[in-house]
Amino acid sequence: MCTFVLSKKIMDQNPNRYTITAALPYTNGPVHIGHLAGVYVPADIYARYQRLQNKDVAFICGSDEHGVAITLKAKKDGISPQEVVDKYHAIIKKSFADFGISFDNYSRTSAEIHHKTASEFFKKLYEDDKFIEEVTEQLFDEEANQFLADRFVVGTCPKCGFEESYGDQCENCGTSHNATDLINPRSVISGNKPVLKETKHWFLPLNEYEDFLKQWILVDHKKDWKTNVYGQCKSWIDDGLRPRAVTRDLDWGIPVPAKDAEGKVLYVWFDAPIGYISSTKEWAEREGKNWEDYWKDENTKLLHFIGKDNIVFHCIIFPAMLKAEGSYILPNNVPANEFLNLEGNKISTSKNWAVWLHEYLEDFPNQQDVLRYTLTANAPETKDNDFTWADFQARNNNELVAIFGNFINRVMVLTDKYYEGIVPEPSTFSEVDEQTLSELKAYPAVIGSSLERYRFREAQGELMNVARLGNKYLADEEPWKTIKTNEERTKTVMYVALQIASALAVLSEPFLPFTSEKLKNMLASAPLSDRTQNGAEGWKDVSSISELLKPGHQINKAELLFSKIEDEQIQQQLDKLQASKKMNAEANKKVTPQKDTIQYDDFAKLDMRVGTIIEAEKMPKADKLLVLKIDTGIDVRTIVSGIAQSFKPEEIIGKKVTVLVNLAPRALRGVESQGMILMTENAEGKVVFVNPGEEGVDNGASIN
Ligand code: 2FM
Ligand code: ZN
Repeated sequence: MCTFVLSKKIMDQNPNRYTITAALPYTNGPVHIGHLAGVYVPADIYARYQRLQNKDVAFICGSDEHGVAITLKAKKDGISPQEVVDKYHAIIKKSFADFGISFDNYSRTSAEIHHKTASEFFKKLYEDDKFIEEVTEQLFDEEANQFLADRFVVGTCPKCGFEESYGDQCENCGTSHNATDLINPRSVISGNKPVLKETKHWFLPLNEYEDFLKQWILVDHKKDWKTNVYGQCKSWIDDGLRPRAVTRDLDWGIPVPAKDAEGKVLYVWFDAPIGYISSTKEWAEREGKNWEDYWKDENTKLLHFIGKDNIVFHCIIFPAMLKAEGSYILPNNVPANEFLNLEGNKISTSKNWAVWLHEYLEDFPNQQDVLRYTLTANAPETKDNDFTWADFQARNNNELVAIFGNFINRVMVLTDKYYEGIVPEPSTFSEVDEQTLSELKAYPAVIGSSLERYRFREAQGELMNVARLGNKYLADEEPWKTIKTNEERTKTVMYVALQIASALAVLSEPFLPFTSEKLKNMLASAPLSDRTQNGAEGWKDVSSISELLKPGHQINKAELLFSKIEDEQIQQQLDKLQASKKMNAEANKKVTPQKDTIQYDDFAKLDMRVGTIIEAEKMPKADKLLVLKIDTGIDVRTIVSGIAQSFKPEEIIGKKVTVLVNLAPRALRGVESQGMILMTENAEGKVVFVNPGEEGVDNGASIN
């Protein structure tokens, strides 16, 4: 009792409070393994870990239901945006729950509380004169009679040359820009080239926050933010920040609460991050808590778990908004992940190149932890990574079944066989026993230290080392042999092994929550939970409590924690992907309509030559770009080409290519590109060269 009062007092002075947010997913489709690996599994591991440490955690998420992504999906499916978000909100929410993502609240941005919160946030900035109100020329589609914001327009990214950049952000290099910055913009609605038309908007002058951002990110967080996050932020800040419009001429979104703002809504990236706040409010109201403690108290640690495409919004724009508002804390860290590919290709909703969570569960019922485990073991923490079904099978069969499952099964079966499931009384501990128990007690700190540094792969690797420790101990001490010769020794060995099993039940909870739950039930380890204040089994108990399972304690019958995944199951998944590939190939066969007729003179202006690639290297810090030296027959020139994800530099040296040589030079990432190589896509959607054909054609030969 005394201890409780004392620790409560300490908690009040030092609240140890965490507001953990996970990116609000767009509700224009279900969620797939890329979402899980990049954001939700690491966020969940972290939230569960902090709860096990008795920290005060608000783990917050919800559906991002505004923005052009939703409107486009509604147009495509011939339904209303509301119908789109209702459908996918339900599917996404269920998928998260099914995979044990333990949000304290999962809200949606169409909720009234969110509209009110976002609207008030804007109003406060508006009334405090934090915006620039300006009439500017914006892209307009005359045929569709509407302004082209965000995903309604695509064009070439001014920063990296990616030709399918959205109006507000380039998915290739992550840069956030204004739609009018795009080179060769075209309307996604009509395919037409937009015109410029005047319209009024409210801009957040990011340039005015440059000094603050420089100090806060480049100095204060230089050491503790992940290098991929820090690097992106530094490059944007170094490039100079410009005012960004936070309103749009659209009919789907939160109406702009300002004078003369009819027909205008808040930019989705203005309202979405405020969704974290409104979701916290919704939760706090329900739980009788004060939401402001989670957003305005300097002792609260605010963390945003996101994918790399969201970095600019969470590290630059949202913090500038919070700073402008004035009463909020800023994120302590933004542990963004890179992307997960699938079987060597980028995950793509439109190409159905994905493993959808709801489909996975149909094929692998009750095997959520296998996917969670594989995704963490292979998490794209520092670079893009690849998910393969072969790796998934191997991780399950060789690690979960062979290491974790095998250890637990042996402990359970032997305890049942020798002692009818009752934890035996140990006698004297040998040096090996002492050593094993002391190694075990070190693990909460070891795993915790990795988690505190957002190294989830490393942390999970250490968890598996606990199971390895158990396997090695049993293999060395051989209780199945000593049972015939030395009963006392066998009891001690089984007692130690049971302590390891019990530690695994606690330490696996953040990573493998379903397994942990099952294991706790098998070990009937409820008495431990009585020892902690919030009912959770304490992380540190593994180190501090001398025995996790007391002699005399009755455990339950063994159940299989993991089962072998057979080759046929894997083949079935590969066949599914193959079918998507085939369907895409069919769809790609649909030839795009012919463009408007041109005169011979127009064609004659294009100077296309045969050339040979004589050098190729990757453009530093650009995933897609190769810097090529081409012998054009006229000269040897540099061309920057966006083909790095389709070809390794060494593969293409010596290759004959078709080059448009009289295209005006353009600087890409500071390198002047003097022409363009003609490329196309094959039936499988792979980028290939438009081959100049017959061998023996000399460089410089004109194509006409
Ligand atoms: O990229 C996305 O899916 C966005 N919907 C993420 C929004 S995160 C936040 F700010 F709400
Ligand atoms: Zn770009």
